[in-house]
Amino acid sequence: MEPFYVTTPIYYVNDVPHIGHAYTTLAADTIARWKRLAGAEVFFLTGTDEHGVNIERKAREAGVSPQEWVDRIAPQWQALWKRLGISNDDFIRTTEPRHIRLAQHLFQRAYDRGVISKGTYEGWYCPSCEAFYTEDELLEGQTCPIHKRPVEWTAEENYLFPLSRYQEWILRKIEREPEFLQPETQRNEMLSLVRGGLRDLAVSRRSVKWGIPVPFDPAQSIYVWIEALMNYVTAIGYLDDPDRYRRFWPAAHHLIGRDINRFHSVIWPCFLEAIGLPSPKQVWAHGFWTVEGEKMSKTRGNFIDPIQEITRLADASGAEWGVAADAFGQDGDYSHAALIHRFNADLANDFGNLLNRTLPLVERHFGGRIPASGAPEGPDGALRRAAADVPGAADRCIGTFDFTRGLAEIWRFLGVANKYIDEAAPWSALKRGDAPRAGAILYNTLEALRIAAILLTPVLPIASLRVWERLGIPTPLASQRLADVRWGGLPAGIRTRPGPPLFPRIERPNVVGDRAPAAARPRPPEEASR
Ligand code: MSP
Repeated sequence: MEPFYVTTPIYYVNDVPHIGHAYTTLAADTIARWKRLAGAEVFFLTGTDEHGVNIERKAREAGVSPQEWVDRIAPQWQALWKRLGISNDDFIRTTEPRHIRLAQHLFQRAYDRGVISKGTYEGWYCPSCEAFYTEDELLEGQTCPIHKRPVEWTAEENYLFPLSRYQEWILRKIEREPEFLQPETQRNEMLSLVRGGLRDLAVSRRSVKWGIPVPFDPAQSIYVWIEALMNYVTAIGYLDDPDRYRRFWPAAHHLIGRDINRFHSVIWPCFLEAIGLPSPKQVWAHGFWTVEGEKMSKTRGNFIDPIQEITRLADASGAEWGVAADAFGQDGDYSHAALIHRFNADLANDFGNLLNRTLPLVERHFGGRIPASGAPEGPDGALRRAAADVPGAADRCIGTFDFTRGLAEIWRFLGVANKYIDEAAPWSALKRGDAPRAGAILYNTLEALRIAAILLTPVLPIASLRVWERLGIPTPLASQRLADVRWGGLPAGIRTRPGPPLFPRIERPNVVGDRAPAAARPRPPEEASR
């Protein structure tokens, strides 16, 4: 199986994280965990983007040096991902020596190959985006389309990258390789952007002091966006671990928000092409979560603190699930009440209840031990067929970022299992004194739950583990692989563990702004050790 490399954007350290950043990281975590389950060698990278004027300004306002500022903020990002149980393999900071070395190396290579040269660049510049805009991209009153703040006309002598020369190349690539840029809406956006014409790009800044110096002209610093994109090759060891680099490049999947699509799907591949390196395999640009219809942004200050909001849900159910279940990829409005509603409908009713209905019968009538499975009869066949289909169906969706459809496949399977227990009615078999048949039905239902728990690990890591522990299965959940998911894997005779109902319904929908503390739940050792 091909190695799988997934990245999040590296986040700016001009302030603390909000729930929109958590959205991308949780989604990347889901696919990383899924690919590990599917047996791939996975490398999952996240990190922080620490150079540029915005950070310089923030540090000045706080009365500290830029280095002190980034050293203060970066650990807060690391702590958040730890708190959310994110399974990243590395965390890169662009102020690390390994990255500075790499950025200078690639920039030098571009210069040596005659790819970049000195010239004068003029244009409308948004200091918050650290990017130039063309006249027709601006909103009314010459404001930036992202921040809605006035842009500045800026002229500078710096190094230019002739992006326009790669226009035909990138157009053909996006046209011919649909998988390179997904989803379709974002692909179409970029196709029309490229067809509209690409302008050359200033790839260094004379005015920015807090940046990586251009190696052959230290009065200039490397444009923060170009430098930031290079993090993706720094971390997999382009300079210091060639074997790892060859394994994971170009197997890279850049998961990003659509706000930074053109940097990833146009500028980055063109720059790589110019210096003779392959493009990443895929850019996947998801939509934006809004709060009351407005984009969340640090600069605008209407952001929701993910530590307050998401971790409550993470403790209860799995924040990855919250992200994945709701039309993943499209724009959406953040609503805590809607998440709670789905929690009750999907988790409490369909998943938790199935276990809550079955285990007490096993406890009462089979001494708490998993009964024997017996020969299939009646509705058993339909359940077995559904169980055989669901791993592949889920893999085809979740393995390609279609989390929402993948979860729907798993829930369809849970629906079959719920219907099965209703129809097969083990309680009737018990009444007529047919204990072996009642036992077989309970076995089949618990086996369906075992399979669901494995498939849901990437999305509901904590909840799946609880189901696994209730079933009393001695082999660790973390050691399960998709290819080994086969009917009959649940050992008969093992001791199940009774306990309070899983996923009790959340009766009071917590709304945004309600700051009741999360119920403290210890993380299972498997989670805590990550
Ligand atoms: N530092 C750059 C990225 C450089 S990557 C080489 C940057 N950082 S950022 O801190 O502003 O993060 C932007 C990313 O955060 C978005 O692309 C998206 O992944 C995520 N999101 C920020 N706000 C979001 C929402 N409101 N909704 C969904 N995702 C959001 O840009």
